[in-house]
Amino acid sequence: MKSQSLEVLRPARNVRGSVSLPGDKSISHRYAMLAAIADGPSRLENYSTGADCASTLGCLRSLGAKWELKDAAHNTIEIQGRGLSLNAPTQPLDCGNSGSTIRMLSGIVAGQNFRSEMAGDESLSRRPMERVIAPLTAMGAEIRSKNGRPPLLISGGNLKGIRYQMPVASAQVKTCLLFAGLLADDETRILEPLRTRDHGEVALRAFGVNVERKGNEISVRGGQRLRGIAAVVPGDLSSAAFFFCAAALFPGSQLTVTNLLMNPTRARLLDVLIQMGLRISVTQLEEIHGELVGALQVEGATLKGASLAGSDTAALIDEIPVLAAIAPYTEQGIEVRDAEELRVKESDRISSIAINLRAMGAQVEERQDGFKIAGGQELHGAELDSFGDHRIAMAFSIAALRAKGETLIRDSQSAAISYPEFFSVLQGLVER
Ligand code: S3P
Repeated sequence: MKSQSLEVLRPARNVRGSVSLPGDKSISHRYAMLAAIADGPSRLENYSTGADCASTLGCLRSLGAKWELKDAAHNTIEIQGRGLSLNAPTQPLDCGNSGSTIRMLSGIVAGQNFRSEMAGDESLSRRPMERVIAPLTAMGAEIRSKNGRPPLLISGGNLKGIRYQMPVASAQVKTCLLFAGLLADDETRILEPLRTRDHGEVALRAFGVNVERKGNEISVRGGQRLRGIAAVVPGDLSSAAFFFCAAALFPGSQLTVTNLLMNPTRARLLDVLIQMGLRISVTQLEEIHGELVGALQVEGATLKGASLAGSDTAALIDEIPVLAAIAPYTEQGIEVRDAEELRVKESDRISSIAINLRAMGAQVEERQDGFKIAGGQELHGAELDSFGDHRIAMAFSIAALRAKGETLIRDSQSAAISYPEFFSVLQGLVER
């Protein structure tokens, strides 16, 4: 359902200040799910404040895992692990807008000896689930869906390990199958076509599970027990991306980001921005529960352009909307190929990007698998739509900072899916 929220963005002169991000969305989901099936309690500090990760917690409660918010100031959640078995839910599991919740949790639910239904909002109900249905069915689960889309009716239990070549590069699917593999007999082996984010593997190891990787093949043995953990979730790099790109718009910007996730399978944006001219220095770096966490200093510059395809596109999939939003302001523009997956995200992101950029007066060449946006363009403020998509709402708030005149973003509230504090933090960082 669309909300009436409207955000007004005015042009800025600079970005200056220091920011620490709420916990990474990908890691928060995985830690919460694993904590629920671990032995003993887990304490997760700086858990994501986004609505998606709250959907995961809601589903876990319906599956009998007890959790409490212990410290609201640090968003610390304590979850009581239930061991590998959960309770049959008495109502459909509400995954809200969260593709991560439905896809990754389906792996755990498929390994339980009960029937359950997983459902979500209008946007989630349009998203493809065949990518988890096919391999989970091959492992022995029975799944009914609406033409490969939610709701999913899952009769789980008695899974057997398989060797599976994933047709799409998706970290959600890989994680789903690793979770299912943990609840299956024998060994599960997954081959990914391209390297995707490895938080599933890293999180499983943090909970004491032995996961192996050989090249692009990852394997896990079923029946391993998990130990609860105490962890601080590193700040979300995909949320920080909006501020990096805001800083990149103004040569005089100075931005410090602390407690930031720097996992190499997520940090391609930093390389791309450096290649485009942004000055980024790492002032601190440590490894916590297998994840690299650091502090960065960013200085604005005049931005060159970029051409992204193949493994770059896969590694940057969540950051492409904001790169597109700053593309007209770069010198040579940005071209993106091999990004067809963007058409099946929270909105059709290729179309959302093209519609909003054109409304601001930009020339955009839209393609089935991406776009080409020329550099050196001047944009004007406009009335834009978030299309109910958090990353589109935030990306175009950044485009607005260098446009002429005011920009309005309809349904801006969708930013809360991953980052409810986004607009107030942005206002604190921009100088006018
Ligand atoms: C995610 C993987 C990506 C990404 C999503 C989070 C994850 O989705 O777009 O925001 O946490 O594994 P896909 O697995 O569909 O590429």
